[in-house]
Amino acid sequence: MDNIDCAKQKIRAVIAGSRVPEDPRHADNTLEWLLRLEPNSGEALQLAALAHDIDRAIEEIKVRRADFDDYDIFKAAHARHGAELLRPILTACGVARDIVDEACRLVEVHEVGGDPSSDLLKDADSISYFDVNLPLYYQREGWAETKRRSLWGYRRLSARARKIVENIGYEEEAMTRLLRKLIHESIH
Ligand SMILES: [Fe+2]
Repeated sequence: MDNIDCAKQKIRAVIAGSRVPEDPRHADNTLEWLLRLEPNSGEALQLAALAHDIDRAIEEIKVRRADFDDYDIFKAAHARHGAELLRPILTACGVARDIVDEACRLVEVHEVGGDPSSDLLKDADSISYFDVNLPLYYQREGWAETKRRSLWGYRRLSARARKIVENIGYEEEAMTRLLRKLIHESIH
């Protein structure tokens, strides 16, 4: 097994321990969307896609929403902590230093983007929220919070990613209708 596969396996093992039920699927699904958006994505970007929410996986030390008044400050702390957790995993697998540094940098900025690679990661992550997280998020958090989270997620998408999200449908018809209505209201 090469260094990158070792790292991917370790990241998946950590995320499998998350108490958030959608986390393991969201990690792999974000990687899948990244490769759909950019099939030539490099190793650092692929590792970052898989690991970007690793902070949420370890209940005892994860960054907690309840400790923050501001959602964006919470998200920044979540991203920074994820990068801190990722570094020793990559290093233990012998991943090259430049790839470690870039993967950790990408995790740290995954909520905000700001350069072509992190913008791609942000799109893949946000599309995946709508693709796999939303129905479970709704079950847990209710419609008011899901609406807020979905609008926040939709607004951070690129034009290309918005087109993809607008065509996502859910098993539950009512969910699909709610999302279409929300998107429609947000742009009019
Ligand atoms: Fe995410």
